[in-house]
Amino acid sequence: MTSFPAVQVADNVYWVGAIDWAIRDFHGYRTPRGSTYNAYLVLGEKIALIDTVKAEFCGEMLARISSVLGSRRVDYIIANHAESDHSGSLLEAIGALRPERVCASTLGVKALQDHFHLDHEITAVKEGETLSLGNLTLAFAEMRMLHWPDSMATYLPERSLLFSNDAFGMHLASSERFADELPQSLLENEAAKYYANILMPLGALIPKAAEKLAKLRIDTIAPSHGPIWRAGWPRIVELYGSWAAATKVRKAVVIYDTMWQSTAKMAKAITEGITSEGVEAKLLPLRATHRSDVAAEVLDAAALVVGSPTLNNGIFPTVADVLSYLKGLKPKNMIGAAFGSHGWSGEGVGQLEAMLTEMKLDLAAPGVKCVYVPDASVLDHCFTLGKQVAAKIAERFPV
Ligand code: FEO
Repeated sequence: MTSFPAVQVADNVYWVGAIDWAIRDFHGYRTPRGSTYNAYLVLGEKIALIDTVKAEFCGEMLARISSVLGSRRVDYIIANHAESDHSGSLLEAIGALRPERVCASTLGVKALQDHFHLDHEITAVKEGETLSLGNLTLAFAEMRMLHWPDSMATYLPERSLLFSNDAFGMHLASSERFADELPQSLLENEAAKYYANILMPLGALIPKAAEKLAKLRIDTIAPSHGPIWRAGWPRIVELYGSWAAATKVRKAVVIYDTMWQSTAKMAKAITEGITSEGVEAKLLPLRATHRSDVAAEVLDAAALVVGSPTLNNGIFPTVADVLSYLKGLKPKNMIGAAFGSHGWSGEGVGQLEAMLTEMKLDLAAPGVKCVYVPDASVLDHCFTLGKQVAAKIAERFPV
C-alpha cells in the first residue's frame, strides 16, 4: 500500500510524477491552478524513467516508482530537459535508483553538468538515435528551443507514445491524469496561457517540430506538465499550428494603470470606441491583472493599446513590467496604440509609442495625451482612437 500510487498510461507505461497543488508563481508566470511535473516509467526488459520532477517532489516520485517496481531497478534515466522542474531531482534519483545510464541530448549533457555539477557521466543521445529496452524501444528527437536549447522528446514506437516534455503541456494541477477527463474549454485556456507565456517567442520553430512529429504514428502525447493526451491530441497540435502562425481574432487588448483615475477614464473611452465598431475589446487594469494573464490575452489579439500616466518623467512601473515581459515574448502581427495623462512633463505616451514600435507593432494612430484630468473633448478623442484601432483591425483582418 502506498499513498503515492502510479497511474497506468499504456501497457507497461506508468505516470510516476508529482502534483503541485500549491505553486502560484512559476518563474514569474502566475499559476492559479497549480501544476504537475510528469515523469514516466517504461517497463521493457530494461526499465527507463523518462524525466524526473522538481526537487522537493523527489520522494513522491520515488514512492510512485516503487509502487510499480518494488525492488526492481531502473536501468536508464532519460533527461529530456535540464530545467529544474524536470531535472531538479535528478541527482537524488541517481543516488536512489542507481541507473546503469543517464541519457540526455548533446546540449542537455552540458546543461545538466552546468546545473548539477554531477559526478555521474551522462550519455549524449543524438537526433534519431534509439535505445533498446529489449522488447521496447526509445527513440530521441531534438526539440531545440522548445523550450531550451537542450530540449528533446522521447518516442516509444511500440505504444505510439510521445513523451513531449514542455511541448503540449499546461500548468494545471488536477486529480485527473488524462485530458479527456477534463473540460475542453479549461484545457484550451490553460494550454493557450502556457503557450503564450512559455513558447510564444519560439513560434517560428514550431512548424519544423510539427513536421518531425507528423512522420510518427501517435496515439498518445504525454507532456511533462498537465494532463496526458490519450485522445484529442490532434486538437492541441492544431492549436499549436494556429498560435505559431500568429493567427489573430478581431480583438483588442487595452491595458493601463492609473494614479488618479484619469488614465482609467481614457481607457474606458477607448474601449467603448473599439466596441462601437463591433470589435471585441478586453480592458485589463494592470493593478489587478498579472503579466501572464495579459500575455494569454495577447496571444490571439489583433491590437494592444497601452495607457500610462507619466510618473517622474517615465511610465508607471506596472506598465513597464508588462511591456518588458511582452517584449520578450515577441508577439507578432499586431497593431498598437498609446494613451495617458500627465501633469507637466508628459513623456509617458511618447515612451509607450517608442516601446510598441520597438516591439514591431504598427501604430494605428498618434497617441492621446491628457493634461491632468480628461474633459469631454479628450474623452471624445479617446473614443476616436478606439474607432481608429478597430478600423485598422478590420482592414488588416477582414472577415
Ligand atoms: Fe517545464 Fe522548460 O521546463
